[in-house]
Amino acid sequence: MKTVEIRRRFLAHFEALGHLVVPSASLVSEDPTLLLVNAGMVPFKPYFLGDLPPPAKRATSVQKVVRTVDIENVGKTSRHASFFQMCGNFSFGDYFKEGAIPMAWDLLTSVDKGYGFDPERLWATVYLDDDEAYDLWRQILPAERIQRRGKEDNYWSMGVPGPCGPCSEIYFDRGPEHGADGGPEADEERYLEVWNLVFMQYERGPGPGYEYPILRDLPAKNIDTGLGLERMATILQGVENLYEIDISRPVLDLAAALAGVRYGADPAADVSLRIVADHMRTGAMLVADGVSPTNEGRGYVLRRLLRRALSGMHKLGARDPVALELLESVRKVMGPIYPDLDAPIVASIIAGEEEAFRSTLTRGLALFDTAVAETKSGGSSQLNGARAFALHDTYGFPYELTVELAADAGLSIDEAEFKRLMDQQRRAAKADRAERRIGNRDVSAYRPVLERSGTTVFTGYEELVRESTVTALLDLDSAALLPAATEGDELGVVLDITPFYAESGGQESDHGRLVFPGGTADVIDVQTPVAGLIVHRVRVRSGELLAGVTVSAEVDRSRRAAVSRAHTATHLVHRAFRVALGETATQAGSLNAPGRLRFDFHSPTAVPASVVRDVEEEINEVLLRDLPVSAFITTQAEARRLGAMALFGEKYGDAVRVVDIGDHEAPYARELCGGTHVARSAQLGAVTLLSESSVAAGTRRVEGLVGLDAFRHLARERVLLNQVASAVKATRSEEVPERVNDVVTRLREAERQLEGLRADVVLASAAALVDSARDINGVALVTAQAPDATGAKDVRTLALDIRGRLGERAAVVVVAAATDGKVPHVVAITPAARERGLSARELRGALDAHIGPGGGGKDDLAQGAGSDAGGLPAAFAALEAAVAGQGR
Ligand code: SER
Repeated sequence: MKTVEIRRRFLAHFEALGHLVVPSASLVSEDPTLLLVNAGMVPFKPYFLGDLPPPAKRATSVQKVVRTVDIENVGKTSRHASFFQMCGNFSFGDYFKEGAIPMAWDLLTSVDKGYGFDPERLWATVYLDDDEAYDLWRQILPAERIQRRGKEDNYWSMGVPGPCGPCSEIYFDRGPEHGADGGPEADEERYLEVWNLVFMQYERGPGPGYEYPILRDLPAKNIDTGLGLERMATILQGVENLYEIDISRPVLDLAAALAGVRYGADPAADVSLRIVADHMRTGAMLVADGVSPTNEGRGYVLRRLLRRALSGMHKLGARDPVALELLESVRKVMGPIYPDLDAPIVASIIAGEEEAFRSTLTRGLALFDTAVAETKSGGSSQLNGARAFALHDTYGFPYELTVELAADAGLSIDEAEFKRLMDQQRRAAKADRAERRIGNRDVSAYRPVLERSGTTVFTGYEELVRESTVTALLDLDSAALLPAATEGDELGVVLDITPFYAESGGQESDHGRLVFPGGTADVIDVQTPVAGLIVHRVRVRSGELLAGVTVSAEVDRSRRAAVSRAHTATHLVHRAFRVALGETATQAGSLNAPGRLRFDFHSPTAVPASVVRDVEEEINEVLLRDLPVSAFITTQAEARRLGAMALFGEKYGDAVRVVDIGDHEAPYARELCGGTHVARSAQLGAVTLLSESSVAAGTRRVEGLVGLDAFRHLARERVLLNQVASAVKATRSEEVPERVNDVVTRLREAERQLEGLRADVVLASAAALVDSARDINGVALVTAQAPDATGAKDVRTLALDIRGRLGERAAVVVVAAATDGKVPHVVAITPAARERGLSARELRGALDAHIGPGGGGKDDLAQGAGSDAGGLPAAFAALEAAVAGQGR
């Protein structure tokens, strides 16, 4: 049975049972506790928790899922993949175990509408004490095919705080040729898990493994099930593993062809091929959902997958670029269901990453070779962990590749040290993320507040002042309720209705104030810690603020206007870059602050300054046209039909807000957007773009100023230009570049001459110094302190000059100077001195004790820099003694 048919039957089965068919959400998780969607239930989490009412009591979906915890197993076992599709049915307080178990059983065993499994080959597991599920299964299966298992196998949570509960899993017995008897408890390669039915009834708190606390019973008893589509296809298509099913095999075969190997010929190569096929597909799906390769967060997950795939190809022998061809085969199999894969940006991002990786590989290999050579010459057979970490961290060289290449070179790697450094880095990143949350706290603490206060109504599109009621005062760290706050206190305030815009979609929050009987408080930040709840961070200026009072909530109008100008400008920048560079130049991120914006966009190469100027001109020209800016609400599907730019990877609910710049028939720019904007484009005044730079492979950044800030910037530049003009005596600004060039050229020439003169002065002393040579047991010794501030280069020139003048004689020359707190010095000896057994390197060593250590060299010439010029007389004496002692 083809994968599409398995999928169709799943959805049809549950639709017939009254479930709403919900399309897959983006892989980019909306949930702040997860980077990527890792289960079919993730988009439904607020319904399980009771934070939002569900769109229906029953739902079914086939959700895109990425899991990288098992990444080490990918390619090695038959059943682990980093990307897969999870078919699920969900009940939000509707049916429970008694519904979920028979619904699953019917689909698995029905021949014409389901998957036609032989009931004799199905097994079930239940959680240890779940007699209810056990009894339900007993009505279907004999006792010997039901197993009770512990928390590790039969208790499910997202791995982070959220809904959880005991589960029941259904297994298919692939037959004795695949392993021992004894059910799933004995062998999970033979007994393949096909379906997990989770009985969601608790909310868990934070904690590792299964050591988390259960916080509460969920408001209702729910069902969340997950059936791996690819795993089902593996069984129904009778293939060995999930890389060989209809939607994976073509990628696998192409990878083999590109590498010039045959799948099935060599087990080690097969593992690599499966890794390539798996990771390329996952990578493509992530890019199609708007993820770009970067060095942190989900961008890093993507980068790692792509680089592992590409280094796998390299290891298999492929030397030419392969990414686009592999992507094309992924598209062929996945494109019919996921048309976003066809967007040109997907190819350009993946090709860009391959290009970046190929140069990394070249550079990394060179660094790796040096590391190997140094390790070996140091007599060790273990590459140190810091080296491997630097290759990985600084140069993006995959650790796996380092391990393999090291093994080829006969070296092991200090893995413990590598892991320690990785952990250290991970902890730092985690702390950094935690910093950014409101009040530094796990946001789940805010959920009870939402329950108490209800969803905050936002009215800030229409009004900037609002009478409203304080429904909660909160401690910002713990989210605990406070009865009152007084002057100087900083706390969280929840209102029933608010005109304050909470930071989101790159737009900074409103500021303003709350006026209450007997006092005022400044609003200094506004956030949405959990969906639906707006929390104002305020500092009480005067009076006593009490929970329950009525306040006048007043948004700072000029800040709001300045942020709105920046946001409208960002839409124009987005549009104008696409006009200039083509439709692939889509937004990768943005910041809209008062009068200032930052816009990140996809582009495989740097954008020439001339293009940035064109874009700037285009935008300012649009401002002059004074286009109307307006917003309307519509459905997701209609917005797409109308050609609204939706940020790839952002998940929007069904009702979406669309912002148009220009008239509705043919707007200049149209985007899905929840932000605030000006009413007409001319209100922006002016936009200037400041700089263009790189943020990550394939992602560029421009910064811009808007309105008066743009004007002030231009005015400031003019003042600066005038200052430069008068400094170089230019009468018109056009003359400035040439004048400055002149000055720079003349300056360089003068510096060159000065250097020559300085060397002449230094050398002029050479003859006198030669005359000052003393005879130490037949060796001529010259010790000289050059004038203060003589640089290392001149010290050396002088020493060599003196040595040259001493010609055939056995002679030792030492020159030193006191320069910027350092003591640069050179010891040079003639060949005749060397014949007498003297060594410049060893003689120089005699200086260290007196002027501070630092230096090295060869037998004929050594140099260094000490730190204590006061020790020079003693150092020279020590050197003289050494000459006396060393020479024969
Ligand atoms: N959430 C469960 C899982 O991911 C069932 O959908 O296995």
